[in-house]
Amino acid sequence: MLEDKKLAILGAGKIGETLLRGLLDAGLVERSNVLVTAAHPERTAFLADELGVAVAADNRAAVQAADVVLLCVKPQMAEVVVPEIASAMTPDKLLVSVLASVTTAALEQLVSGAVPVVRAMPNTPSFVKCGMTGLVRGAHASDAHLALTRMLFDAVGRTVVVDEKHMDAVTGLSASGPAFLYIVIESLAEGGVKMGLPRDVATQLAAQTVVGAGSMVIERGLHPAALKDEVTTPAGCTMDGILELEDGGLRVTLIKAVVCATQRARGLVND
Ligand SMILES: NC(=O)c1ccc[n+]([C@@H]2O[C@H](COP(=O)([O-])OP(=O)(O)OC[C@H]3O[C@@H](n4cnc5c(N)ncnc54)[C@H](OP(=O)(O)O)[C@@H]3O)[C@@H](O)[C@H]2O)c1
Repeated sequence: MLEDKKLAILGAGKIGETLLRGLLDAGLVERSNVLVTAAHPERTAFLADELGVAVAADNRAAVQAADVVLLCVKPQMAEVVVPEIASAMTPDKLLVSVLASVTTAALEQLVSGAVPVVRAMPNTPSFVKCGMTGLVRGAHASDAHLALTRMLFDAVGRTVVVDEKHMDAVTGLSASGPAFLYIVIESLAEGGVKMGLPRDVATQLAAQTVVGAGSMVIERGLHPAALKDEVTTPAGCTMDGILELEDGGLRVTLIKAVVCATQRARGLVND
């Protein structure tokens, strides 16, 4: 619980709403302590109706009333929204930005003054408290600021603290990664459908298999190759499937997907 700290979510779109739902569900924030903003009044009206949070008159008013500010606008909006809130963003408040591509130094320059900034790169499974978030501490953020931010994102999944030079790779891997894995799940399910399974059953089998494989890697702490070997009986059926995957270039395709998404993440701010 963030106790009585007030949270402002600036730009409560897809990721803002996802985090908000996760945090409310985890009981970390009280609805009455949350203020949201968006570009369109219909959007904030929907969130107020749906989640019982308050709507701020504008970004600056939200920041004035908040202790923690979660910035969730598009990267290219940073240069518009951050100067708008700069004078209200006093050093007793914490700015947490989930913007891809925008560095802590760039944010610090835009807010000016010794404002604590933490950069976060979450992903949408935070909605079901299975998120993965990379964190970077800005120049004026203390251990306590980082711990508070970690508490926010740990409530909706797992967190790692990384060097800022790695944040674009975090974006290309774990922030974009759910989209890659939805395609993997869809494709595994299609395989099941091709072999006669009902689609709903095939989708459940595929999705839970991906969840289970991920949990095995995290909870047993083994190399994925060692876990793969456990499934691969000599001359068994899994080996035949692996041969097809290798032939189809699955590994190289996934590696390239992360590389390309990372390279794209670097330039989003210039769009
Ligand atoms: N989606 C992901 O999986 C993900 C993961 C990690 C990080 N991120 C980062 O999260 C950020 C938002 O991404 P998204 O996918 O959530 O995009 P999104 O759904 O388009 O959300 C952006 C929100 O910003 C609002 N907005 C636009 N101009 C504004 C302004 N001047 N003041 C206040 N709010 C304003 C929009 O309002 P309206 O809805 O009214 O148009 C919208 O709700 C990006 O920087 C992205 O890099 C996204």
